[in-house]
Amino acid sequence: MDFFDKAERAGIIPVVVIDDASDAVDTARALLAGGISFMEITLRTACAPEAIRLVKENVPEMTVGAGTVLSLKAARTAIEAGASFIVSPGFVPEVADYCVTTSIPYIPGCVTPTEIIAAINKGFDVVKFFPASVYGGIKAIKELASVFRSIKFLPTGGINGDNLEDYIKEPYIAAIGGSWVCPAKLIASNNFEEITARAKDAVGKIRAVREG
Ligand code: 3PG
Repeated sequence: MDFFDKAERAGIIPVVVIDDASDAVDTARALLAGGISFMEITLRTACAPEAIRLVKENVPEMTVGAGTVLSLKAARTAIEAGASFIVSPGFVPEVADYCVTTSIPYIPGCVTPTEIIAAINKGFDVVKFFPASVYGGIKAIKELASVFRSIKFLPTGGINGDNLEDYIKEPYIAAIGGSWVCPAKLIASNNFEEITARAKDAVGKIRAVREG
């Protein structure tokens, strides 16, 4: 099963902002304990590559990727650190080309038809839709999906335990993402039990929708 099949089966890729690399392994383990085996560590903090490296080395059951990848240089840094996949908030052609050449899974951010067409023409079939709550939420994605039938979406931005069902129930949603499962505050205060509880809650809701 390839990365995209596994991510779709999981249904959730939490967005993680790590301020102190020494919290990365505990955060990964807390997510795993709650049933989540994917995490996107964002390159918004200086320690993010080190956090990716620590998770990759110490938590082999976790598939760790890099988010907020804005340039080819950043993509290379993340991949060298051990990122198994790359996510950008927008469509970055240089990163797209590099990931195609190196066979690294890439999820570009696309909210307009033009961006989605650019992604399709580079061979991608999963795009991030960010910030989902601002760009029309599931209503907008539904319209786009009716036109771009080969594409599945990873919505993030404003998704949480109260509204995730609205997204995950639709067949054109590959998975959902967001920071609510392990927000920086919970990580910084080492409240890993709460992270596990939020992960369990999300996984339970995703399962209930899909099996119901
Ligand atoms: C992202 O990078 O996708 C966003 O930070 C997620 O948005 P959220 O914080 O509203 O979940």
